[in-house]
Amino acid sequence: MSNSVSLDWSKLSFSYTKTDLRYISMWKNGSWDEGKLVEENTITISEGSTAIHYGQQCFEGLKAYRTPNGDVQLFRPDENAKRINRSCRRVMMPEIPIEKFIDACMQVVKANDRWVPPYGTGATLYLRPYVIGVGDNVGVRPAPEYLFGVFAVPVGPYFKGGLAPVNFTIADMDRAAPHGTGDAKVGGNYAGSLLPHEEAVKRGFADCIYLDPATHTKIEEVGAANFFGITKDGRFVTPKSPSILPSITKYSLMYIAEHNLGLKVEEGDCHIDQLDAFVEAGACGTAAVITPIGGIEYKGKLHVFHSETEVGPVTRKLYETLVGMKFGEIEAPAGWTYIVK
Ligand SMILES: Cc1ncc(COP(=O)(O)O)c(C=O)c1O
Repeated sequence: MSNSVSLDWSKLSFSYTKTDLRYISMWKNGSWDEGKLVEENTITISEGSTAIHYGQQCFEGLKAYRTPNGDVQLFRPDENAKRINRSCRRVMMPEIPIEKFIDACMQVVKANDRWVPPYGTGATLYLRPYVIGVGDNVGVRPAPEYLFGVFAVPVGPYFKGGLAPVNFTIADMDRAAPHGTGDAKVGGNYAGSLLPHEEAVKRGFADCIYLDPATHTKIEEVGAANFFGITKDGRFVTPKSPSILPSITKYSLMYIAEHNLGLKVEEGDCHIDQLDAFVEAGACGTAAVITPIGGIEYKGKLHVFHSETEVGPVTRKLYETLVGMKFGEIEAPAGWTYIVK
């Protein structure tokens, strides 16, 4: 901590900074090499790489948190490891052993210790693991070689002025097909979301909500985050669908809702024409933890949940509990946090 970079940590945005070292491992002839830390932040790959032409790639996102005693910890990196392997399987890339994935993240955090924001700033070190298909190729087939990389960038707290609700509109495009790749963290899902996001922002919304691609009647994703609603009778409800990316934040909140807040938890349908079932709503993901949803515009009308300006009490409690666990202020369930040693 003492050698920490001098930055205005709490004002950092979610943007790229070249930090000291990054991890690279190559897969060739059926196995991963040991991997190493490198200084160079560019990679040279064959122009025929499947990642360039056919979107054969996937990625993850997780953070390292400085705790009150100066340690640094990762939050549920084993879940990111499992998810990257599900994504790899879906686009026919080799899996990464869970220990190798966690070790790569740890190596990158340790090597960039001076970039891990100080405790109390709300800022974190964001880790971006990725796998890309590389090597000479031109046909639509899996690549002959793969690159697994992890880099780190310091990012500020998502809400600079404290947690605040924002409004969303409904996308008129889909991010995923009914039996497509919506549950995998593959780049194509995000390329397809750039235009609907841009259109929502132009109309004054924070982002757009995607409905289920088969019937367009149920909420699936809120931008690049999962949806949850709190009912009048104190249930935490979140959509269940094969085309949603299973959010690690969402599953952590489901646990907290049940065990810390005593709510009933349900994964089920969240019908877009039954929004008045919810007294509070939020979007959840690693970037912001929870983005409280003020209102959702649907068919030309804004449906407001708790308030457009105030955060609901259950949303706030969920947020504070999970953030407290991530920064090591509140004891997390066994196995959720990994101290970087
Ligand atoms: C499409 C999408 N949904 C949901 C999430 C939230 O997932 P997590 O809580 O694991 O960050 C993300 C972010 O990774 C995402 O990209």
